[in-house]
Amino acid sequence: MIFPRGREIILGVGGGISAYKSADLIRRLQESGFLVTVIPTRSSAKFIGNATWEALSGRPVHDDLWSNVASVPHIALAKSAGAIVIAPTTADLLARIAQGRADDLLTNVVLASTAPLVLVPAMHPEMWLNAATQENVRILRSRGVIVVEPDEGRMTGEDVGIGRYPESVKIISAINLALNHRADLRGVKVLITAGGTQEPIDPVRFIGNRSSGKQGYAAAYAAATRGAKVTLISANSSLPDIEGIDVIHVQTAAQMHQQVIANFEGSAIVIMSAAVADATPLSSSTEKLEKSNYAQIELTPTIDILRELGSAKADTFLIGFAAQTGGDGISKAIKKYSAKNVDLLYINDVSDGAIFGKDETSGEIYGIGTDGGGPSILERVGPVSKVTLANKLLDIAVNKLGLSHD
Ligand code: CTP
Repeated sequence: MIFPRGREIILGVGGGISAYKSADLIRRLQESGFLVTVIPTRSSAKFIGNATWEALSGRPVHDDLWSNVASVPHIALAKSAGAIVIAPTTADLLARIAQGRADDLLTNVVLASTAPLVLVPAMHPEMWLNAATQENVRILRSRGVIVVEPDEGRMTGEDVGIGRYPESVKIISAINLALNHRADLRGVKVLITAGGTQEPIDPVRFIGNRSSGKQGYAAAYAAATRGAKVTLISANSSLPDIEGIDVIHVQTAAQMHQQVIANFEGSAIVIMSAAVADATPLSSSTEKLEKSNYAQIELTPTIDILRELGSAKADTFLIGFAAQTGGDGISKAIKKYSAKNVDLLYINDVSDGAIFGKDETSGEIYGIGTDGGGPSILERVGPVSKVTLANKLLDIAVNKLGLSHD
């Protein structure tokens, strides 16, 4: 294992309306391999109760300095933390931490801990831009605290401005930087394809497939949280764009090919998780076809993008996907590994509609291991989240490319 997994994170939750967004953050942190203990402030309980945090973190929630006094909980929690993240951090919390106050469990833990501290302020623009808040931010940053810049946009109510709770990807990236932990792709260019191409038959119909794009988006998310500069070429996915990632939308295999070639240069890692149509109608009718003409639809093969990259690549680490059905799936997939000259192939069995559209995946990672022998199954995976799989594939790429900081 290259990177320690299961790092302990303390997630402090301040009393802001955006506290609900930390529910998503917990899930994203867990997917990135962290274990999360939540410490809500008293005022945050006005927005979200402890039951939510307990259910999401799978751990008891501590919010009181005066329970279990004999076990000195603030010291035990402070020692257990790999990092402390407070999201949202209110203006009042910023002020209390800047002053070194310790008037509740969370601020006691902050004061007692030597772990990196990541603050995620979220508040109304006027409060964020207030000279007192800005001065507190300056003081905290001068002490090495990471204060994540809030996002701009629509606030609660009608106001627009700076002060929004940022996307989880931005917060996890800051945590990784703070821990120097899996920020191993910082500045590295990663090109990823996602979704399924659609080949138009006529203005109404197309040849498509069942890919949802979830695996490619998960890979883009994982690479971005490790600091990569990600370009995601997305075919017909209904998933929302991920902030901080360049997303290029395409429809057809030909458009995907064109965009992959245009964005390939300088990519250290390419992950071809898109399901690309193998064939396209020779011509697309401008009029809606009559049923009786279906038999005349002539197909022509598309360019195999992965194969083209495999034959042209120099130092790029190429990751392909093989969706197989049936018993001899693995041997068929293994043939693709050498035919397309990839460095790593993820083989998943999609029989009976498995994997497509799901958040989890199971399969085999096939490639050349560190022992230097021939290609083999390196790991049987799953069921794991698609983000976890992406991190496993990236771990191998980072290792092979010599990017590991360890
Ligand atoms: N792929 C590609 N361009 C294509 C078809 C596929 O880049 N025109 C890529 C996919 O993104 C995936 C890999 O090749 O990473 C495997 O695709 P798959 O369709 O399973 O392979 P094929 O060679 O098309 O095999 P078959 O259709 O026989 O299963």
